[in-house]
Amino acid sequence: MALSGKRILLIISGGIAAYKSLDLIRRLRERGASVRPIMTKGAQEFVTPLAVGALAADHVFTDLFSRQDEQDVGHIRLARDCDLVLIAPATADLMAKAAHGLADDLASTVLLATDRPVLAAPAMNPKMWAHPATKRNIETLQHDGIRFIGPAAGEMAESREAGTGRMAEPLEIVAAADSLLDDGPKPLTGRKAIVTSGPTHEPIDPVRYIANRSSGRQGHAIAAALARLGADVTLVSGPVTIPDPAGVRVVHVERAEEMRDAVLAALPADVAVMVAAVADWRVASAADQKIKKHPGESIPTLALTENPDILKTVGHHTTRPKLVIGFAAETQDVEANAKVKLDRKGADIIVANDVSPATGVMGGTRNSVKLVSRDGVEQWPDLSKDEVAERLAAMISEQLMRG
Ligand code: CTP
Repeated sequence: MALSGKRILLIISGGIAAYKSLDLIRRLRERGASVRPIMTKGAQEFVTPLAVGALAADHVFTDLFSRQDEQDVGHIRLARDCDLVLIAPATADLMAKAAHGLADDLASTVLLATDRPVLAAPAMNPKMWAHPATKRNIETLQHDGIRFIGPAAGEMAESREAGTGRMAEPLEIVAAADSLLDDGPKPLTGRKAIVTSGPTHEPIDPVRYIANRSSGRQGHAIAAALARLGADVTLVSGPVTIPDPAGVRVVHVERAEEMRDAVLAALPADVAVMVAAVADWRVASAADQKIKKHPGESIPTLALTENPDILKTVGHHTTRPKLVIGFAAETQDVEANAKVKLDRKGADIIVANDVSPATGVMGGTRNSVKLVSRDGVEQWPDLSKDEVAERLAAMISEQLMRG
């Protein structure tokens, strides 16, 4: 746990997600970090400094011009006497200020004055997140070296609206902070990895699509684990509700063809791990308009056509990564099917898992896998998807180092 003994300067800005920051403080402290809170004026409308201070067991800093605070600590020291500046929730307003170097309150001043790593967990209405101004600001901040965790998709706390904008869950923020502070060995430094994750959505018409139950958890965990070992990771993700992992370049796509294009654009790489549950087929000609039902007329049939096989394309590509790893989702004859896939798709390793409904793998948090390669079959014990990711990343690093 990289968080143990670390000093976190937590900036809470004014959004409804500030209620989750209380839990975040507890989770950070449980892991041995100390938390020094700064609250913006807006934040204090949502949660009280009393609650924040009690959970953090520290003074809550709120005012740039507090004579007492300036005497005791001072905003420059506040900005530097920490191992990580964490903004949760990070509102559109605070990020706009930070992107432009404004410093008209304590939070924005600290962000301008700090020389420490900064991790932001944005939270806002989906329309605000999608606004070109916010997008520009996020890009600027990313360019300045600020890291982001989330936002995730889902229903908003304050309205019935759904979309991307919900703050990442406290435990996800903790994991992102932990990996950012992790100064463990980085054997994959200088290596490039491509990971696919999640399902694909294949449109039937503008409102309907074909999908599957993949959550993206396994693929996202692998991308994060590779990044922790120092790899330069491009994660090509289908539509998922979990947040983007920290420290990873994420390309969001919907359809298999888009996923293939994004993967090919990310080549060359040292390793490709294809975890996405790509739809094998798409509707041959998706309708431009919503398909209506007309009483008395026959029920429509969907003509399907085959999607590109991304793993196979990469496995046989002229700039094939040194190591190509695929997943096999099987409900029967797991091992035999994986062996066939290994050859057909030009992969070095197939991670085979049994996705029969009884196993709860699809959409769940645990995984029991078999690694099938030309050297044989290795059965791994029942592990969490994070543990599978850790092991796989370690194995990838070993294999790449072997030359
Ligand atoms: N895969 C891919 N592109 C596709 C289909 C699958 O890249 N169009 C990749 C998956 O990411 C996974 C592997 O291929 O790494 C195996 O996918 P799976 O669905 O198990 O195998 P299929 O090739 O679809 O074979 P089948 O449906 O017959 O099991």
